[in-house]
Amino acid sequence: MSIAEARDIPILRQPLMPPSPPRASPDMGLFERMAAMRKNAIATWGQRSYEEDVIKVGFLGRSTFILNTPDSIRHVLVDNYENYSRTPAAVRVLKPMLGDGVLTAEGRNWKHQRRTLAPAFTPRAVDTLVPHMVAATDATIAKLHAASTGPVDLREAMQRMTLEIAGRTMFSFGMDRHGAALRDFVMEYGTRLARPHVLDMVLPLGWPSPQDISRRFFRKRWTRFVAMLMAERRAAGKNADAPPRDLFDLMGAARDPETGAAFSDEQLGDEVATMILAGHETTATALFWALYLLALDPATQEELASEAMAGNGAAQIERLKFTRAVIDETMRLYPPVFLIARGANGPDVIAGLRVRKNDIVLVSPWLLHRHEKLWRDPNAFIPARFMQGNPPDRFAYLPFGVGARICIGAHFALVEATLALAKIVGAFRVELLEQEPVLPVGVVTTQPDRSPMFRITPR
Ligand code: HEM
Repeated sequence: MSIAEARDIPILRQPLMPPSPPRASPDMGLFERMAAMRKNAIATWGQRSYEEDVIKVGFLGRSTFILNTPDSIRHVLVDNYENYSRTPAAVRVLKPMLGDGVLTAEGRNWKHQRRTLAPAFTPRAVDTLVPHMVAATDATIAKLHAASTGPVDLREAMQRMTLEIAGRTMFSFGMDRHGAALRDFVMEYGTRLARPHVLDMVLPLGWPSPQDISRRFFRKRWTRFVAMLMAERRAAGKNADAPPRDLFDLMGAARDPETGAAFSDEQLGDEVATMILAGHETTATALFWALYLLALDPATQEELASEAMAGNGAAQIERLKFTRAVIDETMRLYPPVFLIARGANGPDVIAGLRVRKNDIVLVSPWLLHRHEKLWRDPNAFIPARFMQGNPPDRFAYLPFGVGARICIGAHFALVEATLALAKIVGAFRVELLEQEPVLPVGVVTTQPDRSPMFRITPR
């Protein structure tokens, strides 16, 4: 039985059909597709990508597979995950910012980092960070109150807020002094250096692409900046007996449970950079799309607002079931990470197809979450799907990935997004000032093609 049949959801009113980008023409040539990939990967997928199980495409002697079945995804991300690594293009693009942190590491080095970091991201550890999240969200709401008489750019507000949350949860200090510089680094990298060039995809890793030279210069400036933040946090000190107050304390005190090793200073810097960067834009994107969908669907917004206004405080998170369902459904329709890519380290067989060393395997949460065989009304916004006590197949819904390399910050992000959405929608009625549809653009994350203006009215 397909998941769509198994999950029979009662729909009381006509669900919202949010705008989605046109599907690519089947006649799009390979080179045209490669060029379009750099601008918007989502627009390169045609109708068959939303209907077929596994799609194989050949390019320059290498095959690329797109997996759309839970079984094939389980095979690559869980059962045989050690045969797959991040792709050379991803490593080139990510390393200058993330260094050898847990996101880019492989093999034994990755295992050491992952098990050392794990205790800093358990639900109990995340609970200790909630006061930082609440403080940064309240500060954002206060600023929004001051701005509520005119049009408001909620996308920018969400980016600033999640950066503030990343800064406070990492270092316990606000980002008022360093936030602008941090944002400049992220913007500079995102617009100039993060988009993979064709040469990034085809050159072997040892051969620098033209972009790699600029990336090296960038890395020098960036690591100096992160080291300065760490020095400032150390100068603020810590009482040896006091409980950890932020991620920096938690990660600094972390020891590998097998070897007892702590992170070197350089390694800690890479983990700090990784957590700040992996966490803030993804969560801002999820919150932006949630607010956009709620502005298009006022009845759902009112339902969420009444849940949000029924209580307050950190313990509230357990009660925010509908808010959480809105976040889950938002990340089904607009998964912030639209593509999970792997390169094969050796031969394999996936769904009866032969995979050779260096072939590329893609799992796209964007495609999977809108796949016609896996979801009923795949393009409709129906938060009730996640209210049934009947969670979707964990290999058909993966905003955070699945398996050994599942997002280490998934719980952190869900707590942050649920709390922030409830607080914002509990404080304001949110409406769009523009009729023009906002369309997703797949570059690094699933970004909106522009920042629409909203009207927010205090409740
Ligand atoms: C809504 C927000 C977020 C989304 C949608 C998201 C999604 C993802 C996805 C899809 C992966 C890749 C899984 C793979 O390659 O198989 C990932 C990895 C990762 N994420 Fe997140 N993430 C979010 C927030 C965060 C936060 C808040 C943090 C840290 C505080 C974080 C840290 C990481 C790290 C370190 C990895 C690499 C894990 C590894 O390779 O072992 N993420 N995330």
